[in-house]
Amino acid sequence: MAEVVIVENAAAAGALVATEIVELIESRPDAVLGLATGSTPLPVYLALRTQLAGHDVSQVRGFALDEYVGIDPAHPESYRSVITREVVEPLGLDPQRIHVPNGAAATIQHAGDDYEAAIAAAGGVDLQILGIGTDGHIGFNEPGSSFASQTRVKTLTEQTREDNARFFDSIDDVPRHCITQGLGTILKARHLVLLAFGEGKAQAVADAVEGPLTAFLPGSAIQLHPHATVVVDEAAASRL
Ligand code: GLP
Repeated sequence: MAEVVIVENAAAAGALVATEIVELIESRPDAVLGLATGSTPLPVYLALRTQLAGHDVSQVRGFALDEYVGIDPAHPESYRSVITREVVEPLGLDPQRIHVPNGAAATIQHAGDDYEAAIAAAGGVDLQILGIGTDGHIGFNEPGSSFASQTRVKTLTEQTREDNARFFDSIDDVPRHCITQGLGTILKARHLVLLAFGEGKAQAVADAVEGPLTAFLPGSAIQLHPHATVVVDEAAASRL
């Protein structure tokens, strides 16, 4: 079973996971980080601003989990923009070393394979940060995703579009498709760190950690991983 760490609040979780990342970078200056978007990982990135200060991060590499399809990369809510704004710029990372799947139409046929090849060429992900959707999705692997899936284009569920509508002017502006690392891709990372906060995530967390292994709860894939850590607050842990 995944190791479950219950902390007081999101800030404490952020500090804990940031410490882990700093230790990784100290032991391996060209560490490969698996980056996630959504609100959940933000406390980690915030804590890293302080904890990474004074460290040489010029060699650090990173791969984001997912991206919307059919959105201008310059759109403020594209995951490319979010990763630039929340991670690359404040932490002073080299933008050339931080990758986000390419959701631009012209390359979409081979974007998944290209991304898999880039991760493999980097030697794989050392530490993958994960959030979880209310329906149990990780990355954008919605219920029904194969545990063996690789980076590919997917259709977003209405639930996820509604959940993410808060980042857009209206739900009509939320893209309908995405490109996401597969569950099989995510499981190849050497360490998974799944974070969740608040009552709204409690059921998804309980199902992911203790429920049956099922494609209908993509987060349950973490049970297949030999080194998965789940960092939650009391509310998100309340159904464990
Ligand atoms: C999006 C992202 C996921 C994220 C999820 C939860 O759908 N693609 O990677 O885990 O939302 O978002 P939040 O952390 O804002 O609750």
